[in-house]
Order: sequence, then C-alpha cells, then structure tokens
Amino acid sequence: MQNKDSTVQATFNSVARRYDLVNKLMTLGSHQNWCREVAAYATSRPGSHYLDLATGTGVIARCLREQNPAATIVGADFSQEMLTLARDINGGADIDWQFADAHELPFGDAEFDAVTHGYLLRNVSDLDAVLAEQFRVLKPGGMVAALESSPPRGALAPFLRLGMKSVIPTLGQFIGKDREAYKYLVNSTLGFLTPEALRARFIQAGFEDVHVKPKYMGTNMIWTARKPANAG
Ligand SMILES: C[S@@+](CC[C@H](N)C(=O)[O-])C[C@H]1O[C@@H](n2cnc3c(N)ncnc32)[C@H](O)[C@@H]1O
Repeated sequence: MQNKDSTVQATFNSVARRYDLVNKLMTLGSHQNWCREVAAYATSRPGSHYLDLATGTGVIARCLREQNPAATIVGADFSQEMLTLARDINGGADIDWQFADAHELPFGDAEFDAVTHGYLLRNVSDLDAVLAEQFRVLKPGGMVAALESSPPRGALAPFLRLGMKSVIPTLGQFIGKDREAYKYLVNSTLGFLTPEALRARFIQAGFEDVHVKPKYMGTNMIWTARKPANAG
C-alpha cells in the first residue's frame, strides 16, 4: 500500500463514527438521495450481483438492497472501522461486508453486473489501477455508477472554494471532532481532476457510454460508464 493510501485509511478509520452525520450536514441532506440515484442506475440493468466499493457505512449498498431485495451485494472498504459500522446498522441488511483495497480487488474476473462507489476516486493513489480493477471484475455490458466530488468551476467557484475551506473543517472540528481530516476532504476535492480529465481516464480504462450528471452546483457528480458488451 502506498503512503497516500495508508494516510487515507487512517483518516477514514478516525472519522468513521461521526462520518454519516457530518456528511448529511455538508450536503444539506442530499447525500442519501444521490446514493439512491447511483444505486438506481445499477439496478436498472439486467442482473443482480453488485459490488459497492468504498462502501463506508454502506449507504449505497443499502440503497441497492432496497431497490433489489433479491440481489447479492458485496460492500467493500479498506477501513475496518467503517465496515464495523456498516455491519452494525440494521443488522447489516444481508450484505456481504468485506475488507478490500480498491487497487487490488479480491474478486474474480467478470463477477459483477454493476460496481458502485461513492467518493472513492479522489482518495486513491493510483486511479488507473482502480478503474482497471473495476473493469476487470465487471461482466461484459456491466456498469459502473459512482458519486464523486469535483472541484468547483465557473463564476461562483471562488465563493464555493472559500465556503468549502471554512465551513467543512469547522463542521469537522465541532461535529466530526477532527478538523485535519475534514481539511483533507476539502483539499482532495479541490485538487481532484476536472470532469473532462476524469472522463478521459474512464475511456482510457476501456469504458464506454461515459456520462456525468452534476449535482450541488457542480461540486458533486454522478458518473456512469459501461464495460463494452464484447469486452473479453
Ligand atoms: C468519503 S467515504 C464514502 C463512503 C460511502 N461510499 C459514502 O458515499 O458515504 C470514502 C470511503 O472510501 C474508502 N476508501 C478510500 N480509499 C480506498 C481504497 N483504496 N480501497 C478501499 N476503500 C477505500 C474509505 O475507507 C472510506 O470509507
């Protein structure tokens, strides 16, 4: 594991207990709806074997369960603290919670009908390896649906950047009890790829039909991409 990954892992272990509450406040309650939307893309396609990567406390995995009660769902993360919480909520919702690093997934080729994730890509040390692993574990024709934050752009960008830099660490300090961890979350968003650059990386990994839907003044995006039906 690279240094960046160990730091990210320690950060999420440390914020796990208060993560959902701070997330709700940061997104003014929209996170749950975005997760529902991500899951809806995955469940709208044929098949019912899903992987929710970087599952955290399992919000997207639970949305998949709500939308497809008969599905088999793996919720994977490399933070044990997050996985413990995910298991504890509602008895785990009959989801297979597994420890996994997104750079090296412990799953076979072409296992899943869809892979979902929320706020994974900006945290990883090797984006191309992470996208290649998702491509590998998807069945041909399978879909990735993901929520990701995105650096603000346009006329409001300076105000949004200022707002993020002041409000989020303050929420992190008083509610999340860890100002530095939330400063990292802001900096990783502000330093992340533009939508054009991220689209190019999906395409480079072999995906097609790459679409992005902005949310929250473009600071969050819902991505969908498909592994070609004729991919080996
Ligand atoms: C911001 S949280 C998001 C959790 C959840 N997806 C959500 O939307 O609420 C990011 C999660 O990604 C996980 N993560 C980051 N890098 C990872 C990696 N390389 N492999 C597996 N999980 C990773 C963290 O442990 C953390 O639980």
